[in-house]
Amino acid sequence: MKTLDDLDVAGRRVLVRVDFNVPLQDGRIGDDTRIRAALPTLRELRSKGAAQLVLVSHLGRPKGAPDPRYSLAPVAARLGELLDAEVAFGDDATGEMVLLENVRFQPGETKNDPELARALAARADVFVNDAFGAAHRAHASTEGVARLLPHAAGRLLQREVETMEGIMSDPRRPFVAVVGGAKVTDKIGVLRRFLEVADSVLIGGAMAFPFLRAQGHEVGRSLCADEDVEAARGLLGDDKLKLPVDLVLGRAFAADTEVSELDGVDVPDGWMGLDVGPRTAALYGEAIAAAGTVCWNGPMGAFELAPFAAGTKAVAEAVAASGATTVVGGGDSVAAVVQFGLADRVDHVSTGGGASLELIEGKALPGVEALK
Ligand code: 3PG
Repeated sequence: MKTLDDLDVAGRRVLVRVDFNVPLQDGRIGDDTRIRAALPTLRELRSKGAAQLVLVSHLGRPKGAPDPRYSLAPVAARLGELLDAEVAFGDDATGEMVLLENVRFQPGETKNDPELARALAARADVFVNDAFGAAHRAHASTEGVARLLPHAAGRLLQREVETMEGIMSDPRRPFVAVVGGAKVTDKIGVLRRFLEVADSVLIGGAMAFPFLRAQGHEVGRSLCADEDVEAARGLLGDDKLKLPVDLVLGRAFAADTEVSELDGVDVPDGWMGLDVGPRTAALYGEAIAAAGTVCWNGPMGAFELAPFAAGTKAVAEAVAASGATTVVGGGDSVAAVVQFGLADRVDHVSTGGGASLELIEGKALPGVEALK
């Protein structure tokens, strides 16, 4: 993959694909991590004398037409504050740094339309892709345009790919993978790859229930689709796979529901498992403390509801305190380390959700392939 070390930008107009797909509420930015994550690349391009930076990003999933709810205007304002520089906004704007309007307002973006790729390429002399979070999409602004201009990976995309590929190919051992979240089928490729590469795979979140069901346990009203039970059954029998030994139950998915601790994993009728229990959290914490590498993807429970946050918090604290190389990927577990104020104690917090999962699975990412 070509990097900024391989691309001459002095005096040139640089088209930079960034992933500024940030959470917006009523036009206000909830979390600006993705904007901050792009700053090193933007600063480096400016210090190397780029004549103009033309930034392009998507935001949300508008339907190929302008939709004010998904405008990048608030992002331009925040970027200007963070860089302490003028950021002009809009497709007709001019200046040393311009942020174009949401590229998904154009119907050709998600279709990887060559005409849109050509129109984007015409705005610049060289292309830098720093949008790791969108690298698994073969879109006009990620893949198409890279075919048309001299190109390189930005520092964020470079770091994301090198970190993830590094731990998957040559991890410090023991390598402990922690996988949570809702569905086994969504992460089946990731689980298989971790079972090949890691020394143990600790399972939490709703995804534990299909495994427990496949072992013959009762799951009560816990989230547990038949297709996930079948997928889980295919992975059982591997000693590396570790499942919860106790649970926190709720009557319903709500913060004010009746709560009960279960020392065991047979969920009674009328209850649902919404977090791992304290013994599981302690066992997982010990494994993380003894690890050389930890890769965590997906929360251990419904941490957004206070009664069910303890398991995820314990794992986040163990990851933060561990002397291992620690990597957290996937939107929800990243939100958890941010919520618990631990993000700066993790070696690498990925800005990619789907992209980091595909990288762990060993899939080729179109946005990355186009930079080779
Ligand atoms: C993300 O948030 O995972 C990326 O920005 C990609 O967004 P998308 O799933 O809408 O393509």
